[in-house]
Amino acid sequence: MNFASDNVTPVCPEIQAAIDAQCQGNAPAYGGDDVSASLDRAFSDLFDHEVAVVPVSTGTAANCISLTTLVSPYGGIVCHHEAHINEDESTAVAHFTGGAKLLPIDGPAAKLEAAALSTYLESRADRGVHSVTPECVAVTQSTELGAVYSPDEIGAIGAICKQFNKRLFMDGARFANAVAALNCPPADITWKAGVDALSFGGTKNGAMAVEAIILFDPARRAEAEQARKRSGHLLSKHRYLAGQLAAYIDNDLWLKNARNANSAAQALATLLTDQGGQMLLAPQANELFVALPDTIAQKLRDAGMLFYSWPSLGTNAYRFVTAWNSDINAINALKTRLHGL
Ligand SMILES: Cc1ncc(COP(=O)(O)O)c(C=O)c1O
Repeated sequence: MNFASDNVTPVCPEIQAAIDAQCQGNAPAYGGDDVSASLDRAFSDLFDHEVAVVPVSTGTAANCISLTTLVSPYGGIVCHHEAHINEDESTAVAHFTGGAKLLPIDGPAAKLEAAALSTYLESRADRGVHSVTPECVAVTQSTELGAVYSPDEIGAIGAICKQFNKRLFMDGARFANAVAALNCPPADITWKAGVDALSFGGTKNGAMAVEAIILFDPARRAEAEQARKRSGHLLSKHRYLAGQLAAYIDNDLWLKNARNANSAAQALATLLTDQGGQMLLAPQANELFVALPDTIAQKLRDAGMLFYSWPSLGTNAYRFVTAWNSDINAINALKTRLHGL
């Protein structure tokens, strides 16, 4: 059982079928096809708000192109130290935005907290041209440490952004897992809470390679499309991206896949605690962070589990990630087999 990452998974059958359907003949290039044209309507219905959808093939591109529409080359982006844009995207943010600077701060479980954000923004006010003025705040939902912001928590951050006149961006590489965990309409943790742009992740949750930039102010579309083109992220066979996204939200496939991943995480958490593991953070979505004695970690590896150690949380810390194809019955069966061994 591979719990190393949700990126290790194959394409799910529904999305493979959508890709196959695009292989039946020719179609206009660069987004001129019917499926690409249908995305704005489909996602506007999903979010209960008029949105512009700009598909790209990687999460880094989705994050950075979104940010180009929200921040100037000399502006700052407040984010958590653990944020993917800060820790795992090289200097892509500065590269795409033409120089914008990340301004990392702390918070529990990789979450920003409204009060700390307010204090930080206050401290950076009126510092003139010699300093970097925050123009945007970035949150990740669910976070890099598997935590989920509630609608109230995002709303409180959105209110601070409004008070200080900052844009709010959400990295939703695992947005589906957050919505599945909260069981709320996607609107409640996005535009209703003050989010201006969202990277709506697909790849980790069953797609082959697609993330949708969702702009809650459709007037930002032209800027996003320019940024996508000049960075080489406008695919000529755009219909393959669009087909994946259309299938992903059709019949709530995105939620079905995420619900399986989240339920598998709960089953796996039970197995790990049964084995003597200690959860370092409450399991909320599809990522588990657990402290395991060396002998138990080895025992799990001997039983065929793959997972990473996570030194930033301690020497005995490990990360387990479940996904759309995690087999809950197999996890439960393994728990029974390992119990008492
Ligand atoms: C929080 C988060 N954001 C974005 C991404 C997307 O990254 P990539 O550019 O590798 O698709 C990831 C992937 O690991 C992630 O965990």
